Amino acid sequence: MSNTYKQSTNEQAIEIVNLDELQERAKAIIPAGGFGYISSGSEDEWTLRANREAFNHKLIVPRALTNMEKPLIDTSVFGISLKTPVMMAPTAAQGLAHVEGEADTARGVAAVGGLMAQSTYSSRTITETMAAGNGAPQFFQLYMSKDWSFNNALLDQTKAAGIKAIILTVDATVGGYREADVRNKFSFPIPMANLEDFSKDSGEGKGISEIYAAAAQKISPKDVARITDYTDLPVIVKGVQSPEDAELAINSGAAGIYVSNHGGRQLNGGPASFDVLASVAQVVNHRVPVIFDSGIRRGSHVFKALASGADLVAFGRPAIYGLALGGAKGVQSVFEHINDELKIVMQLAGTQTIAAVKQTKLLDNHF
Ligand code: FNR
Ligand code: LAC
Repeated sequence: MSNTYKQSTNEQAIEIVNLDELQERAKAIIPAGGFGYISSGSEDEWTLRANREAFNHKLIVPRALTNMEKPLIDTSVFGISLKTPVMMAPTAAQGLAHVEGEADTARGVAAVGGLMAQSTYSSRTITETMAAGNGAPQFFQLYMSKDWSFNNALLDQTKAAGIKAIILTVDATVGGYREADVRNKFSFPIPMANLEDFSKDSGEGKGISEIYAAAAQKISPKDVARITDYTDLPVIVKGVQSPEDAELAINSGAAGIYVSNHGGRQLNGGPASFDVLASVAQVVNHRVPVIFDSGIRRGSHVFKALASGADLVAFGRPAIYGLALGGAKGVQSVFEHINDELKIVMQLAGTQTIAAVKQTKLLDNHF
């Protein structure tokens, strides 16, 4: 790794007022190039901002005379029991935020009884990250390589490592135009462990567009079917923003639909992820579980996503910032904070369980 890139070694619980403030706090710790890569979206970041604003488009009607207290946030998805409906989205190169990278993220998520997805482009190997999670459930996110022997090698590793499901990301066949990376002339100062293991080229010294160039620039329903045929793990298709793609994915064998716009890092000018969730969930119609991400920063956002058709809700950046600020305990603090916010919202909305949240009708904000 580049000897000039200073990685955080913090290992501490962190005080949190809200998750939005973590970005500025982490900026003081993560070196500029890495921070730009993590925090930025594509082009003028309109969709990145829209992701955050869209949660105001639907409102939660408070309920008072419900005689309920102590809401319960445990849930079960894909046959996996979880202590929180909030999961860690797959995000590449977490070594940019902390020397332990995905291993500390796995420790922090395991500590709250949550679910973590690890990226193809992780700083740690599949087995290292699984071992750090100490038996906690993990998914593996696959970027489909042009080289099918690489795809198969990764899928074989996931099975052997005890991974519970594959997330196939389909919305990044080319990288979004990431102006921060252009400005910073950003290239990865650290290797990507899975690439390094498979070929001599670890991706170190390359920008994300070069990394993406080795992955597939086109993905068809046949590719989804080829992956679902190869692995006996459930395959969840990530980056779905249209009912059409949801239908194609399910008809190709997808066992889950992951509604996401990649945190506003891909097609700028596309809709906020939350604004398309309900229409996609309606077409999925409970045939397979739905995961949602992009812009989740509040317990009320988690509530609204669950009430709009999601079975699991994910975020990326807040956990990465927690990783930089406090390592495993920082990640744990982030999940504990959003869980606490979610419990307050559930109490004031009169919903005792996650199942009740999913039944809640939100109000369109025409006010
Ligand atoms: C990502 N995301 C992502 N998605 C994916 O499928 N594979 C990946 O390797 C990555 N890498 C990645 C790196 C960084 C730094 C970020 C911020 C995001 C997208 C990620 O899974 C998720 O969709 C977004 O992070 C959700 O938006 P928020 O919560 O970060 O705003
Ligand atoms: C990104 C890729 C790695 O968003 O998914 O940077």
